[in-house]
Amino acid sequence: MGIKFYEAEKVFKLDTKNTSYVIGIVDTENFVGHVYYGKRVEDSDLQYLLRISEAPFVPSQNNRDRLSFYDSFPMEYSTHGVGDFREDSIAVETLSGHKGLQLGYVSHKIYAGKSVLQGLPSTFGDESNCETLELYCEDKVLGLEVVLVYSIFNDVDAVTRSVRVNNHGSEAIYLTKVLSSCIDMDNRDFDLITLHGSWARERHIQRRKIGYGKQGVASLRGESGHQENPFMALTTANASQEEGEVYGFNLVYSGNHHTLAEVNQHGTVRAVIGINPVDFKWKLEKECSFQAPEAVLVYSSEGIGGMSRNFHDLYRNHLIRGEYKDKKRPILINNWEATYFNFDTEKLLSIAREASSLGIEMLVMDDGWFGHRSDDNRALGDWTVNEEKIAGGLKYLVDEVNKLNMKFGIWFEPEMISPDSNLYRAHPDWAIAIPNRTAGLARNQYVLDFSRKEVIDYIYESVATVLRSANIEYVKWDMNRPLSDIGGVELPADRQGELFHRYVLGVYELQERMTKEFPHILLENCSGGGARFDPGMLYYSPQIWTSDDTDAIERLSIQEGTAMVYPLSAMGAHVSDCPNHTVGRVTPFETRGYVALAGTFGYELDVTRIPAEDRAMIPEQVEMYHRYNDLVREGDYYRLASYGENHNHDCWQVVSKDKTKALVTYIQVMAQPNTRGRILRLKGLDEQKSYRLSVNDKTYKGSTLMNAGILLEKMQGDFKGKLIYLESV
Ligand code: DGJ
Repeated sequence: MGIKFYEAEKVFKLDTKNTSYVIGIVDTENFVGHVYYGKRVEDSDLQYLLRISEAPFVPSQNNRDRLSFYDSFPMEYSTHGVGDFREDSIAVETLSGHKGLQLGYVSHKIYAGKSVLQGLPSTFGDESNCETLELYCEDKVLGLEVVLVYSIFNDVDAVTRSVRVNNHGSEAIYLTKVLSSCIDMDNRDFDLITLHGSWARERHIQRRKIGYGKQGVASLRGESGHQENPFMALTTANASQEEGEVYGFNLVYSGNHHTLAEVNQHGTVRAVIGINPVDFKWKLEKECSFQAPEAVLVYSSEGIGGMSRNFHDLYRNHLIRGEYKDKKRPILINNWEATYFNFDTEKLLSIAREASSLGIEMLVMDDGWFGHRSDDNRALGDWTVNEEKIAGGLKYLVDEVNKLNMKFGIWFEPEMISPDSNLYRAHPDWAIAIPNRTAGLARNQYVLDFSRKEVIDYIYESVATVLRSANIEYVKWDMNRPLSDIGGVELPADRQGELFHRYVLGVYELQERMTKEFPHILLENCSGGGARFDPGMLYYSPQIWTSDDTDAIERLSIQEGTAMVYPLSAMGAHVSDCPNHTVGRVTPFETRGYVALAGTFGYELDVTRIPAEDRAMIPEQVEMYHRYNDLVREGDYYRLASYGENHNHDCWQVVSKDKTKALVTYIQVMAQPNTRGRILRLKGLDEQKSYRLSVNDKTYKGSTLMNAGILLEKMQGDFKGKLIYLESV
């Protein structure tokens, strides 16, 4: 690993173990060009890749064709308004209404370690494991400094990028777009992979060939969204799980995003990612700075699986923080699907008693315990315990649960306010709304204006007061509607375009405060299921609720898409009751356990009321979780088959880093008549090692298991699953 500046060649080279990222400075105007990103190369004299010797010449030699230059040069960070007609990365508007800017390299800094991003989540590293390059660029006319920041790590093939804008000009300027990353490269017949979805159907994989023009995903919902995750991958045409080249892009941000690939007239591709410029306008006063979020770039020459494993390692080692970062999480039982709003102390304790006797380790009290919240029409914002429901008070309940040798967790939705709440009656202007227009309700609630300090201070204190009042060891932070009717009463007209981003900064500030004051609390983010499953949230919470759809079969595609980018350790996954509340499907309890085992593992059911034979299986499942969770949480993830592709079965595998253990999970969705047993070729093992298989106690070499495979005998029945454990002998 290393970052080097080759002065003679005017080249910056960032080498990770298997990849190189190369930037070149050209011409007397010091344009910053994107030279190369891909498999590691050893030479530094690579400026020829910028094709500056081809006509049209660089501007200083041939101003006549300046626009042709701008419109074809591979830019490291494209600018608006001076002739690069492709997707721009930064756009401004001066007080006189002008928009052009051009950046030239001025200086740079290379240092060991990595700086934090003010007010924003970001990957971290120290002097022993990461290195950073800061490229100082400037628009001379505006006095605007744009710092392009790159970091690399010694244990993972990833490059992180972020951008800081400093206004050294003589007056304020409006930033109307500040993306986090841009790269230009030749189109190698790329496919585009994105993760699309909806409520209860998050992060399904979509793959398509890219064509001329722009294609990508975005959010304008104020959150990353159920619909389109802030992620895209460009893959060479036949890239599979293990072969082909893949470029992955992910944004460490939880608000509006803009993620796209553009193929231009010359057949080159520009890939950008950052804050969505729509509804974004940031007034940057003189000598003030703006910090754009961090983008993560991963290149893999070992297919999609190689990309996934790099994202997982980066996020597990350099993004997720806190006491639970590398720890097994307690098996929880959440009362949402068990009771919805219909619960009281006695009901919760009856669930806890039964759960504890079966080996479950934590009770989570979901929505409905506060204010006069008898349904989802009221009381958000009133974070005081409803003692009519929670007779004896919260501390009593928590103490009783603790006596059962269980931890206690609680649900909040801190960003929201119900019109029918004491908080709204006292502060109607705390809800985001456009003056003189009735704001739209969703789930009968408004969004609090988290750009206002008094609002987040008030909410923090009311949440923290509850957390301080009893031995609470887990918080589920929910968020159940997107932002609309964007208007903030405190912002002047020319700062209304800051509200979306300021809102996200407010959410981050609150989560940072909470994790600082309550470091022992396991935080799980959630947004109507998985609408905020993004790296920004992972910085604060080691796990995120993946989806409100807990059906084992629906979860196959949801979890496959999620795991393409995010580690299994982060995926909230529970065994729930049947018929499933979302789709009405009935699946075996055993299969529900196997699917939940691929995530954090827990329960979401009334354990006092499920069929006795299901209940009897829980101790075995608890044991299964304790046996395999280290492997699932820390191992390398391989996809063996995709139900989304074959519409029949699903199969994934985790392998310990030292390749001594592996676990294969196979789910047969629909049984088919007159078929034979299936040969499964395993992945990621050590060819030379011998492994004993749990299913037949036989021992085979890794080379046999990976090349010839194992025989999975034909299973009768729909929705059946099998776990195969291997250990080297
Ligand atoms: C949405 C979450 O995803 C559910 O798990 C549950 O907490 C409800 N909100 C409660 O309102």
